[in-house]
Amino acid sequence: MRDKIVAGNWKMNNDLAETEELLGKLKLQMVKEPEATVMVAPSFTNLYPTFQALKDTPVIVAAQNMHESESGAFTGEISAAMLKSIGVTTVILGHSERRAYFNETGEILAKKVKTAIENEMTVIFCFGEELEDRKNNRHFDLVEKQLKEGLFDLPQSSWKNIILAYEPVWAIGTGETASPEQAQEMHKHIRNLLNKNVGKEVADSTSILYGGSVKPNNAKEIFAKKDVDGGLIGGASLNAVDFVEIVNSF
Ligand code: 13P
Repeated sequence: MRDKIVAGNWKMNNDLAETEELLGKLKLQMVKEPEATVMVAPSFTNLYPTFQALKDTPVIVAAQNMHESESGAFTGEISAAMLKSIGVTTVILGHSERRAYFNETGEILAKKVKTAIENEMTVIFCFGEELEDRKNNRHFDLVEKQLKEGLFDLPQSSWKNIILAYEPVWAIGTGETASPEQAQEMHKHIRNLLNKNVGKEVADSTSILYGGSVKPNNAKEIFAKKDVDGGLIGGASLNAVDFVEIVNSF
């Protein structure tokens, strides 16, 4: 059985007061024991208060990024040890916004993943094609390349700490979702790649989330697909009612 996971990526939204308000609403809305594993990823400044507010709940708090070095002269950066020291052991890596706006290459991401694993953290590894790639029928190859660069050098034993998040760039924040069929087709491709490159056990046990304009009105259909194990939610995760409805969409 693979874990069903719904994770909210709050991106660069909400100051402390707004974060506390959202957390209060989330705690009111959320059932005590949701069927899915629930995660939220606030900004760095809101990580600790979020962790404190949710520590008596099953909700896991994740960081949105992390530096690949253990420590040192990297002004403005955050290390794995810093995250762990406040109780955060899950990190999103490879989000398309990091790749596109902050030049995070496959090589850098492979280092970040390695550092996270060495620190016994769980990684939500994001990848996905741009519209041009899909139009030119390069989406399957592009996804293979991103997985190969970031993850396929990992030993099999590291994969228990990896969650995959397929996020087609053209569907992020655009209101245009991949159809459930498009999501299933890609997720199946990803599972086949895992089977070929890492092994059947990992392919069968790794959760693959879909991300890109998941909303309460489309989550059920997408999550019902065989190889879709949940979602990584942007915009809709900033609204407690919508997010909880998505959490309950299995
Ligand atoms: P949206 O749900 O706003 O499209 O964002 C998806 C995403 O980027 C989650 O990481």
